Amino acid sequence: MKSVVILISGRGSNMRAIVEARLPLSVAAVISNRADAAGLAYAREQGITVEAIEHRGFPTREAFDAALAQAIERHRPDLVVMAGFMRILGDAFVARFAGRMINIHPSLLPMFPGLHTHRRALEEGVKLHGATVHFVTPSLDHGPIVVQAAVPVLPGDDEDALAARVLEQEHRIYPLAVRWFAEDRLVIRDGVVRVKDSSGGDTAQLLMAP
Ligand code: GRF
Repeated sequence: MKSVVILISGRGSNMRAIVEARLPLSVAAVISNRADAAGLAYAREQGITVEAIEHRGFPTREAFDAALAQAIERHRPDLVVMAGFMRILGDAFVARFAGRMINIHPSLLPMFPGLHTHRRALEEGVKLHGATVHFVTPSLDHGPIVVQAAVPVLPGDDEDALAARVLEQEHRIYPLAVRWFAEDRLVIRDGVVRVKDSSGGDTAQLLMAP
């Protein structure tokens, strides 16, 4: 069975969705860059190994990245899952985990990389918004797309309402992406992800909100 290490910084609802999906893999550890991340309590209750590596305790970004990489490698995971992990990781770190680290971002990438995606979606007046699971590359919030979910932007939406609609979809697509990885179904070719189905074809990778 494959194993994953999940990186969080806060609430950890995506981590929880992955754990609750009872996927055919083991969660070797949940690691946070903040000891007070709310999600750590849930992971602990589930009997998952939990570690906090506080970025504030390190003199440089490189030193933090190196400590984090070491902590992850101790668990020998097949996949690193960034789930609301709010630190930018350096190129050396990203290169080390190339092809075995994924992230979830609350927009339809390549639209709205970076912060405050829901506010920016409202300001731009887009009619379609959503979330993306992607492999991590050195450019921020960029990389081969595994799956996306789209939601409508509705009249009267504020940032919180839109964030909640997107988050519900995040909790659908992240466990799905991790399941595909566990089942060895993800192939990256020329920077594009294909999801193999049992007949050798491709599975649809866009989910619309029900
Ligand atoms: C999610 O919206 C995720 O897409 C973004 O940060 C939020 C984390 O939420 N990167 P949670 O910690 O998984 O609840």
